[in-house]
Amino acid sequence: MKYIITKDNQSISRFSLGCMNLPLGNIKETNDILRLALEFGVNYFDTADLYQYGKNEATVGPLLHDYKKHFDIKIGTKVGNEFDSALREKIRWNPSGDYIKQAVIDSKLRLGNPFIDLYQLHGGTIEDNMDETIAAFEELKRKKLIKSYGISSIRKNVIDYYKSNSNIATLMTDMSILKTQGEEFLDDEIVTLARGGLMQGLLTKNHEEVLVKKFKKGTNGYTYDKLKQMLMMLTDYNHSLEAIAFRYLDYMNVVTLNGVSSAKQLEQNIMHYLDSASISDDEIKEIRSNIKTLYYEEHRV
Ligand SMILES: NC(=O)c1ccc[n+]([C@@H]2O[C@H](COP(=O)([O-])OP(=O)(O)OC[C@H]3O[C@@H](n4cnc5c(N)ncnc54)[C@H](OP(=O)(O)O)[C@@H]3O)[C@@H](O)[C@H]2O)c1
Repeated sequence: MKYIITKDNQSISRFSLGCMNLPLGNIKETNDILRLALEFGVNYFDTADLYQYGKNEATVGPLLHDYKKHFDIKIGTKVGNEFDSALREKIRWNPSGDYIKQAVIDSKLRLGNPFIDLYQLHGGTIEDNMDETIAAFEELKRKKLIKSYGISSIRKNVIDYYKSNSNIATLMTDMSILKTQGEEFLDDEIVTLARGGLMQGLLTKNHEEVLVKKFKKGTNGYTYDKLKQMLMMLTDYNHSLEAIAFRYLDYMNVVTLNGVSSAKQLEQNIMHYLDSASISDDEIKEIRSNIKTLYYEEHRV
């Protein structure tokens, strides 16, 4: 496994696990996924307070705790969506300093950790009081309640503000060989955590089924027909779609945040990730050159 070091000196595995779609109702399967990831060398696990209204943190944290004796483990979580865990509903977007300082206590309790390795703002708009949010993250860092902070965003104006006015160590953004919008945000000082690298299963051997099931209306920048055409182009190469998808992210020097809903998916993805090393720089550059560079049109200024 390769690792990448953040500006505040945390190492993150280049292949990491996104926990949002874990099968939490099946603890054995969830545990199998976490163990498999750890055995492969994954040391970073991404969750959020909002996922299953606290249940994701409360499941993943204690399960991972049992492995801490033997493995280096970092958990990242997110804040900013105020929610009611009893009613299981989101109340509002709330990036205020007071809310963040309260929410970190709740997340720590659910995760069962004395501090949070990476605390990320779960979105954000240019209208937010971003200086107040940044001051809250800095205070939590000074008090050693968090080790690093970052944001999760696809909004250029918000990302630019945080890049220039804060010490974010990471940027989580949607990025895959077909969703190239994230390339615009790459930065030498900030580690990019790429989510959606397999596009919800579209860039897997199940692409025909996933295209019909999940992408009938297309997706940002692509109609259904255009997606179909792009998939045909990619499947003409002598590599699996998964290997191409992973190699692209590796070539971009980002962390692949792989989301799975079963241990079988993770097993397959690990195999394809290993295979992806056989694709040369020249070949992935050639594949990438057949794909348009896309930009988000909104939230730029
Ligand atoms: N705004 C944010 O901050 C934000 C938003 C989204 C995600 N995230 C984070 O990023 C992580 C990854 O995002 P994502 O889950 O959207 O990524 P993704 O890779 O686009 O989608 C993951 C889904 O792809 C399918 N999949 C994965 N491997 C497969 C395989 N081998 N064969 C067939 N299908 C496969 C599964 O779908 P099925 O569930 O249908 O089986 C899985 O749940 C999340 O877990 C979460 O931690 C953050």
